[in-house]
Amino acid sequence: MELAEAIRGRRSVRKFRPDPVRKEKLESILDLAIWAPSAMNRQEWYFVVVQGDKVEEMKRIFADAFQDMKPRLEKVFADKPKIIAATKEFFETYGGAPVFIFAYGGKSPDGKSWDTLSPAVAVQNLQLAAYEAGLGCTWTDGIMGKEKEINEALGIKDKKLVCVLPIGYPDEVPRVPPRRDGRVEWIGF
Ligand SMILES: Cc1cc2nc3c(=O)[nH]c(=O)nc-3n(C[C@H](O)[C@H](O)[C@H](O)COP(=O)(O)O)c2cc1C
Repeated sequence: MELAEAIRGRRSVRKFRPDPVRKEKLESILDLAIWAPSAMNRQEWYFVVVQGDKVEEMKRIFADAFQDMKPRLEKVFADKPKIIAATKEFFETYGGAPVFIFAYGGKSPDGKSWDTLSPAVAVQNLQLAAYEAGLGCTWTDGIMGKEKEINEALGIKDKKLVCVLPIGYPDEVPRVPPRRDGRVEWIGF
C-alpha cells in the first residue's frame, strides 16, 4: 500500500467483527509502531495487548467511564443527541472489538513529567500499519477517568496511560470526516 493511500484511507473504526486476530499480525503492527521517532530516542512507550476474559473485564470498566464524560459531551454536542447516544453505545460495547491495545508512556527525559508524545507518535504508526493489514482501530481516551481501575486490572505501575485502541476486523465503513482548511500558515514563500 502506498503511504499516501494509507494516510488518507485510514479511518477510526468503531464497529468490529468478532473474528480473532492472529498474534503474529498484532506483533508485526507493534513492530512498525516502535519505529516511530521518540524524545531523545528513549522509546518510552509501552503497549499492553489484551484479548479474552480481560477484554470483557475492561469493557465493564469502560461502560462506567461514559458516565464521567457525559457532562462534557452534553456541553459540546448540545444540539446533537444522536452523537451522545452513539458514544454511550460505543463505550458500553467498544464496538465488539476482540482485542484492546493499551498505550502507555514512561517518564520524560527530565524524569519529572510523563512522555505522552512519543507513544502518541508510535500509535499513529500503529494505526496506519493496522489499516494496511486490513484491521481497524480507534484512538480512545474518553476512558481516562478510569485510569486507576484500568492500571490495577492490568497490573501496570509507574506508567502513564495515553490511549486505548480497540482493534479488530472492521464491521463498518466509517464516513470520511472532511478536513478543515486554514490550518497551515506559510511564511517567506
Ligand atoms: C487525541 C485523540 C483522542 C480521541 N479520543 C477518542 C475517543 O475517546 N473516542 C473515540 O471514539 N474516538 C476518539 N478519537 C478519534 C477521533 O474521533 C477521530 O480521529 C476523528 O473523528 C477523525 O476521524 P478519522 O480518524 O476517521 O479521520 C480520538 C483521536 C485523537 C487523536
